[in-house]
Amino acid sequence: MQKIILTGDRPTGRLHLGHYVGSLKRRLQLQQAGGYDEFYVMLADSQALTDNFGNVQKVKDNVLEVMLDYLAVGLDPNKVTFFIQSEVSELTEFTFYYMNLVTLARLERNPTVKEELKQKDFSGTIPMGFLTYPVSQTADITAFNATIIPVGDDQLPMIEQAREIVRSFNNLYGKTLVEPQAVLPENENCYRLVGTDGGAKMSKSLGNCIYLSDEAEDIKQKVFSMYTDPNHIHVEDPGKVEGNTVFTYLDVFSKPEDFEKYLPDYKNLDELKAHYKRGGLGDMKIKKFLNSILQDLIAPIRERRKELAKQPENIFEILKVGTQKARKVAYANLIKLKTNMGINYFN
Ligand code: TRP
Repeated sequence: MQKIILTGDRPTGRLHLGHYVGSLKRRLQLQQAGGYDEFYVMLADSQALTDNFGNVQKVKDNVLEVMLDYLAVGLDPNKVTFFIQSEVSELTEFTFYYMNLVTLARLERNPTVKEELKQKDFSGTIPMGFLTYPVSQTADITAFNATIIPVGDDQLPMIEQAREIVRSFNNLYGKTLVEPQAVLPENENCYRLVGTDGGAKMSKSLGNCIYLSDEAEDIKQKVFSMYTDPNHIHVEDPGKVEGNTVFTYLDVFSKPEDFEKYLPDYKNLDELKAHYKRGGLGDMKIKKFLNSILQDLIAPIRERRKELAKQPENIFEILKVGTQKARKVAYANLIKLKTNMGINYFN
């Protein structure tokens, strides 16, 4: 079986550290490891429209912003095919046939969709487009015979839905599609990075994000206003590390070299945590440490991004070439799909 990787993001805003640890890092690893037949990264603008249909311009503008983030972190257009979902119209056709294989009740049970519906204001009635986006996501995956889908854990219900549709399709029309497999981030703290406010999730709408494009001063200010342990008032007080955002971030971002470089009095994070728990370690010191680590991570990304942003025409050229290629593949697979279904009138 071919190894075809496919993933994507809804272009609704710049990417932040939650995206970085939750999905971009894994993509970089996969790119680095090589040994795949194809690697597609899709700008899911059509899917973004399912809850931004009144704001097409925002989605359009963010196609460029997200592409800049992708390239700035190191995704390489020579190794990855980038494409725009709405420019591959075959995907809509796949979606239409798959809709026959899914019930309304099944869509309403999708936990991620349910969660999103709680946060959105659709004035009590759900647009069909939004409810059926998991079906269109199945189209995104299967139109390219993708086998490996690197995503955050919130996307597991989408992959499960895709697998069900694949099975139904194959049962009904003969073996045509392959069941995709999700690949999650390696570390559970990365599944859903908490926000700088300690909230459950780093999310644009909650305003608790550190962006990959943030200036040094913004990062510093966000780190220094992070939520720690509200009962750790004096330096000598014993502190809690569980639920302490600074330590959660250190769990995710600190490496042994960072201790050598910035806190040589401690061998590793366990020692730092032990000191904090005992008392005698101030919040200032741990925040300074985290700030240094995040500055080191983000500075090169931000600078590369600024360079890339000077020539947006180059970015659109990459997208154009990638989209043409994606469209060819999706078209060929659509013909196969329709042929297996028996919808072929003229040959
Ligand atoms: N649902 C994904 C998100 O919200 C984006 C997406 C659309 C996607 N189609 C996909 C991810 C196919 C993986 C595979 O970020």
